[in-house]
Amino acid sequence: MIKPLRKAVLPVAGLGTRFLPATKAMAKEMLPVVDKPLIQYAVEEARAAGIQQFCLVTGRGKTAIVEHFDIAYELESTLRARAKDAELALLREAQLPPGAVVTVRQQEPLGLGHAIWCARAFIGEDPFAILLPDDLVLSETPCTMQLADAYYQTGGCVVAVTEVPREQTNRYGILDIGHEDGRLVEVRGLVEKPRPEDAPSNLSIIGRYVLMPQVLEHLSRMERGAGNEVQLTDAMAKLIGHVPFHGLRFEGRRFDCGDKVGFLEAQIAFALKRPEMAGAVRSFLKNYV
Ligand code: UTP
Repeated sequence: MIKPLRKAVLPVAGLGTRFLPATKAMAKEMLPVVDKPLIQYAVEEARAAGIQQFCLVTGRGKTAIVEHFDIAYELESTLRARAKDAELALLREAQLPPGAVVTVRQQEPLGLGHAIWCARAFIGEDPFAILLPDDLVLSETPCTMQLADAYYQTGGCVVAVTEVPREQTNRYGILDIGHEDGRLVEVRGLVEKPRPEDAPSNLSIIGRYVLMPQVLEHLSRMERGAGNEVQLTDAMAKLIGHVPFHGLRFEGRRFDCGDKVGFLEAQIAFALKRPEMAGAVRSFLKNYV
């Protein structure tokens, strides 16, 4: 029996060193693309896939991320008194139902694998999605929904994948691939940040996963991998052969918003999708290119 996918873990405890100085006192996940913080895009994408329970893995200085999903009483009453209905609606979009969010702390940023392990009590025995909020995906069907559909079809782990230039494989988790069926790719192996000459392919995992709870057993060993961090990829690799494991060539475009250039590109791409500003953006862009 395939269990329903209802839980998501959002690790937000990273230091965001690539985005200094913006991230000195502010969480990377609160950076807005157009007018919405990265974390809200991730939560909306997960909710569109039927996910109802969220675990934010936070660290020092990340409180604003959790507050973003609260009811903002003072702001609401002021907006109501001024009959600002459109703004009120925007506030409510950024509000989650009572009890939908829990937080756990990752006291030290020991790696993504360690961050996920910190959510073990929340995950329990259930399948769960992971969304890394700094990866933003622009697509017709929300990326997590595409993964959820693949999970219901295969009953196992599914990771979103995309092709990267071969010389960049040392930045990503890379797949060793087997049989391909449409957008689904059988995963035979996973390697974290391989050198281009050692990489089994140029298919890279992006920050969207559906995983089985068995991954926690492997994470609990706290084995250090690339960069001396507890790598999620290494623990996932140990599930291959024990549970169905696939990559999904998702439909859409991924923007690495943890990177300054990736973030700027996301601003443009998302602004051009907004009817109320696309024309103005297109016309000012002509001044620069
Ligand atoms: P990144 O690799 O982007 O690391 O993490 P980072 O620390 O956030 O940013 P840079 O590289 O220093 O600029 C990918 C995701 O994993 C989370 C991050 O918050 C981000 O969502 N993460 C990473 C943790 O929660 N804990 C960690 O120990 C490491």
